Amino acid sequence: MRSFRLLLCCGLLLGLTAFAAFAAASDDCLACHSDSATVGKAFAINPAIFDTTVHAQLGCPSCHTSVGAGHPDDGLPPSKASCQECHAEVAKEYAASSHHQNAACSDCHNPHQVRGPTEVSGADMNRTCSGCHELAAMATTHTTWLPQADLHIGMLPCISCHTASKENVITLYIIKRPAAARFGRFELAGYNELKALASHGKIEGLIDGNEDNYISLAELRLFNSDQERTGLRLQGMMTPETVTHNFQILANRRDCSFCHASGPAARQTSYLSLATSDGSYRRLPVERGAVLDALYGTPDFYMVGSTRSTALNYIGAVIIAGGLVVPIGHGTLRFLTRRNRANKED
Ligand code: HEC
Ligand code: HEC
Ligand code: HEC
Ligand code: HEC
Ligand code: HEC
Ligand code: HEC
Ligand code: HEC
Repeated sequence: MRSFRLLLCCGLLLGLTAFAAFAAASDDCLACHSDSATVGKAFAINPAIFDTTVHAQLGCPSCHTSVGAGHPDDGLPPSKASCQECHAEVAKEYAASSHHQNAACSDCHNPHQVRGPTEVSGADMNRTCSGCHELAAMATTHTTWLPQADLHIGMLPCISCHTASKENVITLYIIKRPAAARFGRFELAGYNELKALASHGKIEGLIDGNEDNYISLAELRLFNSDQERTGLRLQGMMTPETVTHNFQILANRRDCSFCHASGPAARQTSYLSLATSDGSYRRLPVERGAVLDALYGTPDFYMVGSTRSTALNYIGAVIIAGGLVVPIGHGTLRFLTRRNRANKED
């Protein structure tokens, strides 16, 4: 028992020393690499972002194992780890998808800015695709079978339909109209914009009045009733909590009921996702079922077929029953929900 503790102690000590050593080594590297004037823009790393990633805990030398003693004057480029050394599972899965011929890991990920799927906004996920697949062009190609393809692409990460990513939840983001444009489209509100609006500089306070890290229906209602004054709204997206890399065209995503059903409980689980100063997002749980309260919870979000309102559910069922009915169904839906929308459309 005693020797075990000793071992544990040594292990911990070693671990800590190693951690401290790596952190120190990172600091050495960052002395130059945090400054784009020294290393040039292409080689600069933002420590405010890097330091908050799990990769920072590994330290630069874990991935750049050989850095010449004379670096950078020796002109020898340091080694660069390949992702599969540590992410064998993901690499294997991705290699099985034909998309691996189109894009490498680092086309979609910056190794110095990695985040888990729940710390990335849905819009940011789609930004990784838009470098090669322009979003407006995608809305056009998808509209041949998907009504309101632009809305769908705005409210869904591409990976929800093109990978088997699962555990979908509804994530609410704060959006605002750009100050200059009276009629402009709403955009995701950034950290600094929200911070300026929050009374004590705490963004959470914009919705979470009692600061209990939980968003109740009552708090949503208050936030929504104040739209006129704040210019802020909530936008709901369906985002996956578990991400896979088996990129493909999944036939069952043409089946509207994959999403528009009153079914899977997971889709009623929802979060409010708030921008943080390091560019990642932090989630607060939202009262169960609150997003389905079309009147007060999330007046700007309708998941046809999964709403509490029976009228909406009925229309949802009609839409799902036959694609042909979509235009009519949708028109009716907008008619039925016109009162909810009266304030949001201009
Ligand atoms: C004295 C400043 C300085 C320090 C300290 C420094 N670097 Fe660099 N590093 C540079 C400069 C300048 C370049 C660009 C060199 C060039 O243009 O070829 C560079 C380039 C690099 C590159 C890119 C090479 C390429 O061609 O793709 C890597 C990777 C790198 N450094 C890693 C590190 C790591 C890891 C450390 C810490 C162990 C480190 N550097 C410490 C100045 C520094
Ligand atoms: C988890 C692994 C990992 C860690 C930790 C890491 N890097 Fe990198 N780095 C890479 C990989 C992989 C590439 C090559 C990316 C590519 O091919 O585009 C790279 C590229 C670079 C480059 C070339 C420019 C670029 O962005 O492609 C520089 C400079 C660099 N790293 C410096 C650093 C410094 C300094 C640190 C510590 C502060 C660090 N790296 C930590 C994996 C890592
Ligand atoms: C030296 C080992 C190592 C290398 C090389 C490495 N990673 Fe990681 N990476 C980790 C560890 C450890 C974690 C945290 C545990 C996990 O998610 O597997 C991680 C996590 C991640 C995450 C999730 C971040 C989060 O907060 O959940 C992403 C995305 C990621 N890595 C991408 C990459 C990419 C892309 C590359 C290649 C450019 C790469 N990694 C190279 C070790 C590595
Ligand atoms: C076509 C774009 C794309 C490519 C290529 C890609 N990824 Fe990802 N990856 C994503 C997206 C989108 C996410 C979800 C958002 C996030 O976490 O960054 C993700 C998430 C991840 C995560 C976090 C998963 C989790 O559940 O925590 C890891 C780790 C990861 N990728 C590693 C890799 C590695 C390793 C490669 C190369 C073998 C790779 N990715 C190639 C788009 C891509
Ligand atoms: C570095 C460029 C690049 C990035 C980034 C990228 N792709 Fe692709 N992708 C391609 C190319 C090239 C093709 C093949 C030509 C085409 O169909 O447009 C392709 C094809 C596809 C296809 C059709 C596959 C098939 O089986 O026909 C899908 C679906 C796809 N990409 C989804 C995505 C998604 C989702 C993302 C973001 C997570 C993404 N791609 C990011 C380059 C990229
Ligand atoms: C609601 C599910 C859904 C969403 C969201 C979605 N797709 Fe698709 N996508 C599909 C289906 C289904 C097909 C196959 C269509 C067909 O067979 O005609 C397809 C086809 C494609 C293709 C190949 C044909 C083409 O149009 O070039 C690409 C590339 C593609 N999608 C990329 C994307 C990207 C990038 C996004 C995000 C901007 C995205 N998709 C969002 C379901 C979706
Ligand atoms: C991968 C999930 C997914 C699939 C598949 C899907 N949708 Fe949607 N749909 C959504 C989301 C998310 C919204 C946005 C809800 C909102 O913000 O109001 C939406 C919105 C809609 C709307 C607009 C409701 C409104 O607010 O005006 C209609 C109509 C619609 N979908 C019909 C369809 C039809 C028809 C299909 C099959 C061809 C389909 N959807 C497939 C997820 C999906």
